[in-house]
Amino acid sequence: ATTRYEAEVSPATCDGTIDTNHTGFSGTGFCNGRNATGAALQFTVNASEAGTATLAFRYANGSGAARPADVAVNGTAAGSLTFAATSTWTAWTTQTLTVPVKAGSNTVRLSPTTASGLANIDALDADTATTTPPPTG
Ligand code: GCU
Ligand code: CA
Repeated sequence: ATTRYEAEVSPATCDGTIDTNHTGFSGTGFCNGRNATGAALQFTVNASEAGTATLAFRYANGSGAARPADVAVNGTAAGSLTFAATSTWTAWTTQTLTVPVKAGSNTVRLSPTTASGLANIDALDADTATTTPPPTG
């Protein structure tokens, strides 16, 4: 099942500001991270069971250059994303990564690896496994 986590909704944390000046975001805003290496955005993703989750980060990057970031789950490196340039700051798209998760709550931290910081990040759609219980009786 897929759940949307908005960057502006606690317990998410944005090392920057929640902005509304570029239209097309979902919810009530997006995270405009500080333009600095390590200025992170952290989501908390709930999973009903251990396994893998496919994470789709919705972002816009009108800067003209990629804004790469490392992804850590529960403090452990889980991959990286490029956040390639989009045509404008109002052109939102997604980048996806599959990561391991544990049952319960999981931190998902996006940490930019260049001094430009993160792309503007709107939300995270997390698709976590759900096992259909066997029929009873
Ligand atoms: C512009 C844009 C911001 C963006 C910033 C950046 O100021 O309006 O939304 O975050 O560039 O380069 O990071
Ligand atoms: Ca920014």
